[in-house]
Amino acid sequence: MMEYVKRLKKGVRYLFCMQGQKRYLTPFRGAGVSRITRIGYTAITMRTIALFNQKGGVGKTTTTVNLGAALAAVGKKTILIDMDPQANLSFHLGLEADKVKHSIYDVLCQELPLADALYPVADKLWVVPATPDLAGAEVELVNLPDRESRLRKMATAKPVDYDFLLIDCPPSLGLLTVNALCLVTEVIIPLQAHFLALQGMARLLETCSMVRERLNSALRISAILFCQYESAPRLTGEVTEEVEKFLGESRESNQPWSTAVVLETHIRRNIKLAEAPSFNKSIFEYAPNCAGAADYQVLAEEILQMK
Ligand SMILES: Nc1ncnc2c1ncn2[C@@H]1O[C@H](COP(=O)(O)OP(=O)(O)O)[C@@H](O)[C@H]1O
Ligand SMILES: [Mg+2]
Repeated sequence: MMEYVKRLKKGVRYLFCMQGQKRYLTPFRGAGVSRITRIGYTAITMRTIALFNQKGGVGKTTTTVNLGAALAAVGKKTILIDMDPQANLSFHLGLEADKVKHSIYDVLCQELPLADALYPVADKLWVVPATPDLAGAEVELVNLPDRESRLRKMATAKPVDYDFLLIDCPPSLGLLTVNALCLVTEVIIPLQAHFLALQGMARLLETCSMVRERLNSALRISAILFCQYESAPRLTGEVTEEVEKFLGESRESNQPWSTAVVLETHIRRNIKLAEAPSFNKSIFEYAPNCAGAADYQVLAEEILQMK
């Protein structure tokens, strides 16, 4: 879908959308700011992606950091949001709790606009960090109005200019995850190709369906990404086949995953990817010539080409 923002009257912006042959105008409440293009409209190419799987250890954080770094390296303004109370992403990029004034907790529970919680970590790369108090947010949110859509509200409260916004989801299906799914239009599910890979998948998909039905009609699962991939074991092939078969059966449905693809890029198991966090570096700074860096580079290219 092509989208343009046009300023029709002072203070109000409209989205000029084209979907197939249809064109329409709709009031714009997005988080992007104007960038003038040749034809005098503003091109909106912002993509919002949640890395989501309620299982821990599958590669959500590693992917958010390194995919984000790869996108920033090719000039895409990229924001990473750490939605996990364990704050692994924030630690990975050197933003420990004592080094930051604002965090995602303030955005969710104190109505701080997302734009005011950004920390630059590299050229074109910003992080909204998490701190341990985020663990309490799940409980605090229950009693707040708009508890499921507060992140979206705060992301649009003040304009933020970006090309990609990636959210590192926590390993749970609670309100933090729901807030993430309420803001984004795309979900990428990192999977490990072992025999328990698909366990819990039904609940994950159910959560996406619920959010799409009740809160965010634009939500779709765009892709499955195999992480910590080992090409040799027979099992890897079996899991891949099973996922492809499942997706094949859903093509005609109206489910959020009916257009999902299994990404061609597989992130191979690579020890350098596990070492990089202790040096507060992305894989491109830590070991630019390793297989892990090559895989995330190719992944970024594939993501950029996705429709
Ligand atoms: N491709 C990989 N090769 C080797 N180790 C990896 C790879 N991807 C992730 N890891 C390591 O596996 C662990 C879990 O990954 P992580 O990204 O933190 O998962 P999640 O965020 O889903 O819990 C971390 O220690 C990470 O460094
Ligand atoms: Mg994580």
